[in-house]
Amino acid sequence: METTVALLLLCLFMVIIDSSVSHNDKITMLPGQPQVGFQQFSGYVTVDERKQKALFYYFVEAEVDSASKPLVLWLNGGPGCSSLGVGALSENGPFRPSGEVLVRNEYSWNREANMLYLEAPIGVGFSYSNDTSAYVALGDKITARDNLVFLQQWFLKFPQFKHSDLFITGESYAGHYVPQLAELMIQFNKNHKFFNLKGIALGNPVLEFATDFNSRAEYFWSHGLISDSTYKMFTSSCNYSRYVSEYYRGSVSPVCSRVMNQVTRETSRFVDKYDVTLDVCISSVLSQSRVITPQQVAERIDVCVEDETVNYLNRRDVQEALHARLVGVKKWEVCSNVLDYKLLDLEIPTISIVGSLIKAGIPVLIYSGDQDSVIPLTGSRTLVHRLARQLGLNATIPYRVWFEGMQVGGWTQVYGNILSFATIRGASHEAPFSQPERSLVLFKAFLESRPLPQLV
Ligand SMILES: *[C@@H]1O[C@H](CO)[C@@H](O)[C@H](O)[C@H]1NC(C)=O
Ligand SMILES: *[C@@H]1O[C@H](CO)[C@@H](O)[C@H](O)[C@H]1NC(C)=O
Ligand SMILES: *[C@@H]1O[C@H](CO)[C@@H](O)[C@H](O)[C@H]1NC(C)=O
Repeated sequence: METTVALLLLCLFMVIIDSSVSHNDKITMLPGQPQVGFQQFSGYVTVDERKQKALFYYFVEAEVDSASKPLVLWLNGGPGCSSLGVGALSENGPFRPSGEVLVRNEYSWNREANMLYLEAPIGVGFSYSNDTSAYVALGDKITARDNLVFLQQWFLKFPQFKHSDLFITGESYAGHYVPQLAELMIQFNKNHKFFNLKGIALGNPVLEFATDFNSRAEYFWSHGLISDSTYKMFTSSCNYSRYVSEYYRGSVSPVCSRVMNQVTRETSRFVDKYDVTLDVCISSVLSQSRVITPQQVAERIDVCVEDETVNYLNRRDVQEALHARLVGVKKWEVCSNVLDYKLLDLEIPTISIVGSLIKAGIPVLIYSGDQDSVIPLTGSRTLVHRLARQLGLNATIPYRVWFEGMQVGGWTQVYGNILSFATIRGASHEAPFSQPERSLVLFKAFLESRPLPQLV
């Protein structure tokens, strides 16, 4: 009897703690924000007590009827770039900074879901460790583990979302983060039914180093960025995966150096590799995955005078409203300068993990902004097709166009009703940034596990 009462009291106590904690993380108002009808939260979750590691999140509830909407975790890549600055404030979040204020993004993904943006791993954005040795040699394994602990702890703050349908989404290097996290969740679920994982979606993802990177040569060539003879060298003398591999081992061979110089000279500094149709001066927030394209580090787009997101997130009043602190860094940065990520993890194939997720019954969508030359659609399409064949999945939707309104939004193909590929027409590496409306249509169909719309 006494224990029952004690337990009951304990439960009650925990519930009170829980709601008060989420209450502490509630954002009253972001500076310059328009009035909205949904709630926002942000703050820290400790993922490692001993190493004093804390990850920063920004959570926006769905615009309407949040209790019945799914929960979606979004991760940006890099490795080392911020899901708050890139994902939330430039791509699919409810607001975009403009001068002193925030303007509404009409195609925000919180129209369809409760969106959780995580700055991961430690050393990215406002996430930190008090033990700076934790920034050294941090790679995919630790990132996946910390992200898993983050979600477990986050659900203690927001127990009301524990039974919501959970989706994990992300782009670029999140082609590593997302499948690796989903795999840990499924392992954890074997003993404790905990994560209600219903699917993953990956935009222009790094899934298999050689296939993804070597599709660049043909993409450059077919879009007129390099000549016939350079294309030949870039596919025979030294291909891009070999160059990157040599680069990260600190020994670029003379032949690769010669080929890359030629490629760089012809493609020039004046088009954006994340969208070959764009002029160069777009926000440096979009320099995500500069890390996976080392040859472009020197030509990083710093000429842009204004960087609204960087300015906004470095305001003291904004940081206070977000409950954020800068620990061990002077400034909030789009991509971390303190993190020393194990870049050779780039070569770990994650397409095989995607295969194991599908075998476990988790639906997967791989989509590509079709103007991106960094992780071109052609490599992703090949990988998806190859995986479908390996798994014995036949096409359940043949390669066809899909529509957003009266216009073609892109192409799609579905295998075994579980593995989908789609392109987003006219979209960059950051698809929701350049094609917000088409991206939202794709996102909605994915959440509802419905085929992409045809012309009605
Ligand atoms: C980091 O150190 C500060 C100051 O001692 C402390 O308040 C904070 O809780 C520590 N962070 C973590 C994650 O332990
Ligand atoms: C890229 O180069 C490596 C090393 O020379 C080679 O093993 C690989 O087959 C090449 N890949 C392609 C697609 O040409
Ligand atoms: C896929 O198609 C092949 C050839 O038509 C057929 O033999 C096979 O049974 C199909 N597999 C499934 C899982 O439907």
